[in-house]
Amino acid sequence: MKGRIPREKIEEIKDRTNIVDLISEYVTLKKGGRNFVGLCPFHREKAPSFTVNQEKQIFYCFGCQEGGNAFSFLMKINNMSFPEAVRHMAGKVGVSIPQGEMNGRRAGEETERDKLNRINLMAAECFSENLLSPGAKTAREYLAKRGMDDAVIEKFRLGYSQDGWRHLKDFFERKKVPLHLVEKAGLIISKGNGQFYDRFRGRLMFPIEDLNGAVIAFGGRELGNGEPKYLNSPESPVYIKGKNLYGFFRTKDDIRKKGEAIIVEGYFDLLTLWSAGITNVVATLGTALTRNQIGLIRRFTRNVIAIFDPDEGGKKAVERSLPLFLEEKMHAKVGLLPEGNDPADYVMKHGDKGIADITNRAISMVDFYIEEVMTKRRSLEDSLDSMGDSMAFISNINDRIERNLFIKRVSEKTGIDQGDLKTAIQRDMAKSKKAPQKSGLEEKKIVRVDKVELALVHILILYPDKISMLKDETFLKYFTSLELKRLAVILTESFREGKIKTPSDLIGDMEDGALKDKLLKLLVEPNPFDPEVVDKVLTDTMKKLRDKWYKGRRKILQRELIKAQELNDQGLKDRLLLEKEKLLQEEKRPNSRND
Ligand code: UTP
Ligand code: MN
Repeated sequence: MKGRIPREKIEEIKDRTNIVDLISEYVTLKKGGRNFVGLCPFHREKAPSFTVNQEKQIFYCFGCQEGGNAFSFLMKINNMSFPEAVRHMAGKVGVSIPQGEMNGRRAGEETERDKLNRINLMAAECFSENLLSPGAKTAREYLAKRGMDDAVIEKFRLGYSQDGWRHLKDFFERKKVPLHLVEKAGLIISKGNGQFYDRFRGRLMFPIEDLNGAVIAFGGRELGNGEPKYLNSPESPVYIKGKNLYGFFRTKDDIRKKGEAIIVEGYFDLLTLWSAGITNVVATLGTALTRNQIGLIRRFTRNVIAIFDPDEGGKKAVERSLPLFLEEKMHAKVGLLPEGNDPADYVMKHGDKGIADITNRAISMVDFYIEEVMTKRRSLEDSLDSMGDSMAFISNINDRIERNLFIKRVSEKTGIDQGDLKTAIQRDMAKSKKAPQKSGLEEKKIVRVDKVELALVHILILYPDKISMLKDETFLKYFTSLELKRLAVILTESFREGKIKTPSDLIGDMEDGALKDKLLKLLVEPNPFDPEVVDKVLTDTMKKLRDKWYKGRRKILQRELIKAQELNDQGLKDRLLLEKEKLLQEEKRPNSRND
């Protein structure tokens, strides 16, 4: 619901927002002519078709037709509601919106997600403080042993959960935060009788942040030999596994600057690399990399180097992620560590130079797959299995060119005839008959948008003061498209009220569809109407609009006349003829307004 946040606040936020700065936090943008362009975060692409127009404060992707203003961008990219996007933006531009009480009934404006984020942040602050307490001596010693200094501890907000059953629970009770929400955030566990206890006890705490820096979950490392080694927050409305990357909020800018991301598995891997000055790094947190995570990284760079543990698990992780990297058109390499090391160990032993060596010697993921995974498995006994595996693997590569390149490489390596491989794979693919991928174009119905009406609205958006040239509002009746007419009405009405509708406002109010798409496209492209001649263009367009309307009316009357003729209905025919005459007269009078 829009209503809750005062209108003036929204206006103030809008005024202070710069869409280029906002989107730059998510997408690498380059100035290209009058617009900024980059790789679209909403679909896969190799060449940038994602366009941001600073002057009009709108964005549009020529590839997938996503578009809108700053708020719509936030809503789409973070899956936020409108108020969430407004609040988020308010925080960025320094406009304060009154916060609702968390336990009162007037919580109204704060969404559940806001609350859960706030609770997680409070917990992170509590854990940070705990780390300084005498009880956290072991934790501090452990951090020192693993080479973590104050800078890392502060930057990544490392903390400690006290060893006991109700420290955090008491903390939230004191702060009057409803415990059912703390439970929902995954920080406490219900005993079932209205009682709760702490999930994390006596652990080193790693807050997991989303792309915007909100704390959404925690990982807690055991300091002794307890199990599990790492305990993680369960999924919650703010934390969905496989949709986040550890450390990314802190490192994404460096990743963008370096044009390369190093992917590691663990918390300590990331923190140790970061401490050694290798700051373009993200961690997957031990799970297989998902398409979603790759999509996050791709917004900042297409070059990645995965440095996984050199064990079977690490190999499997690479094997599973390769098809995703290929499909997402990433340049993926693998950095190979000597047996028995993980990235953290390796940095501790060999420093940043050591890791630089590893990344410099990294091999392409395709090579890695063929050399390490496929070839080594190819003993005589399991060669058939292996053949099946690689075929299944290859048929998963959706891009035809990538697939053929891969087939060529496999054939060179294994000596299996390329043609044979291709036929086998085609058979395999036909069998599994995957649903064809929908392209953005197919998804959206192609609807014709009236050219003249669109041109008129386009002119009025670009030159709102020209609305004064339209002496009365008769022209509105000539619109045949209701949607365009609505825009024309909004533009003229706000002009008469002494306000001007910005392109970004208009776009923000429109439903997704063919018209919004066309308009966005027109608005990010250079202004086609030279200010010198725009008056004439406007008059011409008005005339065309009017002519078109009369032409349409004449056609309708003509058709009815023919029908009357066929029916031999003289009365109807006479009436229609009269109407036709009237229409012709009216059309000749330049400023007719009666009807
Ligand atoms: P590792 O077992 O490699 O741990 O798991 P690590 O990161 O090297 O930790 P240290 O160096 O021994 O302290 C890699 C990642 O897998 C997840 C964690 O995110 C960890 O960082 N993991 C591992 C868990 O979630 N739970 C576990 O019990 C173990
Ligand atoms: Mn490890």
